[in-house]
Amino acid sequence: MGYYTILGLTREPFSTSPDPAFFYRSSSHMQALTRLEIAIRLRRGLSIILGDVGTGKTTLARTLLGNFPQEDGFSFHMILDPSFESEYQFLLHLCRLLGLRGTYKSTIDCREAIEHDLFQGGVMEARTTVLLIDEGQKLSGDMLENLRVLLNFETNDFKLLQVVILAQIELLGRIRRLRNFVDRAALKYIINPLSEQETADMIEFRLRSAGYDGAIPLFADDAVRIIHQFTQGYPRKVALVCHNALEALVMHDKTSVDRSLIETLVHDESRWVHEAVA
Ligand SMILES: Nc1ncnc2c1ncn2[C@@H]1O[C@H](COP(=O)(O)OP(=O)(O)O)[C@@H](O)[C@H]1O
Ligand SMILES: [Mg+2]
Repeated sequence: MGYYTILGLTREPFSTSPDPAFFYRSSSHMQALTRLEIAIRLRRGLSIILGDVGTGKTTLARTLLGNFPQEDGFSFHMILDPSFESEYQFLLHLCRLLGLRGTYKSTIDCREAIEHDLFQGGVMEARTTVLLIDEGQKLSGDMLENLRVLLNFETNDFKLLQVVILAQIELLGRIRRLRNFVDRAALKYIINPLSEQETADMIEFRLRSAGYDGAIPLFADDAVRIIHQFTQGYPRKVALVCHNALEALVMHDKTSVDRSLIETLVHDESRWVHEAVA
């Protein structure tokens, strides 16, 4: 039996997998999501979402997918890790994602096939093709250049390929060096960590989503304040600390996570961090 069943929950509230059901819409996440949806619907081409590790980029991408439920006229394709060996491998992968089964011997063959397909889909069938690339900081210069070429492909009114790149901030340095790449982005957005209030709301939201229906909050206000200070509002870290806190709660047979429980946890966690750095 999981610790969460003892607390009367139906699901694990603080798992670190990118599950849209646990995605709390902070103001930053909501802005990113809404603006992405608009950019895609208007077929504006390139969108770049940046954020540190654990700010919720992968979860955001999955939530975005869920916001276009089986809707006619959109085909989404996702690349979870763009570490391809060569630009040919990258373009061939794109062909396969788009469902193109031909034999393409060169990058030019691939590009031609992709452009033909995008034209067919975008103009003849009024379909919007969206390519989501997660871990975008792994895109090499060659791949970025290929994306730039594909993004040039447009009608008078719209781009034929919608590209959403989700990446760690380090991508910024690289794309700044590529002429025109950043300028082409219709949407550039950096996801901010959560404020203290948002941290409290995210914890509450995830507990409720996991089936908690108690009247007393499981996390005391001053405990949340310490969690926010310690995690700086990074959702992944918040989820990890809360997970550990609930385990400790069950082990010590307490009813709510209070200040002293969190202080002990944070103290132990900090020791790990400092030992690792030393
Ligand atoms: N807005 C959010 N609401 C709730 N949990 C979140 C949110 N953003 C991120 N998380 C949680 O943080 C963890 C890491 O998120 P993830 O999307 O993998 O981050 P990234 O891709 O930026 O490294 C996951 O457990 C996810 O559920
Ligand atoms: Mg991620």
